Amino acid sequence: MVGVMNILTLETTCDETAAAVITDRLDVLSSVVASQDALHERFGGVVPEIASRAHVERILPVIDEALRKAGITLADLDAVAVANTPGLAGSLLVGLAAAKALCVALDVPLVAVNHLHAHVYACRLVDGPGVFPCVALIVSGGHTSLYRCAGPLEFELLGGTIDDAAGEAFDKVAAMLRLPYPGGPSIEKAAAGGDPKAHRFPRPLLSDRQRLEFSFSGLKTAVRYAISAPGGPEPSDVELSAAQVADLAASFQQAVVDCLAGKALAALRASGLDVLCVAGGVAANGHLRRRLQEEAKENHFALHVPPIELCTDNAVMGAIAVERIKAGLTESLDLDIAGGLLRAPQRRR
Ligand code: KG4
Ligand code: ZN
Repeated sequence: MVGVMNILTLETTCDETAAAVITDRLDVLSSVVASQDALHERFGGVVPEIASRAHVERILPVIDEALRKAGITLADLDAVAVANTPGLAGSLLVGLAAAKALCVALDVPLVAVNHLHAHVYACRLVDGPGVFPCVALIVSGGHTSLYRCAGPLEFELLGGTIDDAAGEAFDKVAAMLRLPYPGGPSIEKAAAGGDPKAHRFPRPLLSDRQRLEFSFSGLKTAVRYAISAPGGPEPSDVELSAAQVADLAASFQQAVVDCLAGKALAALRASGLDVLCVAGGVAANGHLRRRLQEEAKENHFALHVPPIELCTDNAVMGAIAVERIKAGLTESLDLDIAGGLLRAPQRRR
């Protein structure tokens, strides 16, 4: 194809409805993200049914706005890309149905995007092709994994969480502390005034450097028992002072950051690589970002972390579709979703 291609990318894997227009030269012409945080907040977590319905209501206005901001019309699109895995099944289906409808109507190719790979691609978008080969640490609400990435489409799993994801732990602990959803930013804010050494919480699996795995469930339980002893009232029914909340939040955040940084270092050593890409919503955490910058200096590796708006879910990272198009990897209209993440809401009691 001669000239610049315009690609519409759609993202509806969880609770953000997002669309962007990207060119095959990786210029970002527009980006729109409609957050559903306000809808899920009172449940303390994402309610899948509410998420799917909100995607249905928002997907067309979000696409319209992305086209308008890019200064193009539907007729100017050369391909449509959509994240079809992993995510909430009902949410994924809305994006996929919209993408297929556009591809049929416009007679343009459909491109499948792996949401996790797209998170890592945010580092490539910002810092260029030199980020590969790398170790990628993906830390989001549903995933906490380490990959060895030879290139933008080559992901070899080194290890992941054996129970909760890091973001999920942030969200659950925030609910115990009666901090608003999403829990990550709330904990970070509360932790700013707290003492990270006030509570000595466990760092599960951290000392076992052979295992490139994470575990956050025991840490979550330790926070629970620090708030209310076994057999006591529900943590969210315990009245805590602002100083107690701050100390609990800071000590919990420190434990998570120690685990993430320690395992990322172990993965770099095990793989012999000296580039670390960090991506996903938890990569927005300032404490984690600062800690990894210190580790990078001390241990001589290159660190790539996207700006905050490209850490949390967005459609710009769907620019990984350009790599797939260049590799000839477009899809038939039989493309299906691949779920694999059904996060139950964390109800507050
Ligand atoms: O990547 P993302 O937007 O959605 C998923 O793919 O899951 O990640 C959302 C997760 C939530 O659990 C949220 O609490 C967490 O990222 N998060 C943070 C911060 N901002 C978002 N966790 C820690 N600190 C933050 N500043
Ligand atoms: Zn995500």
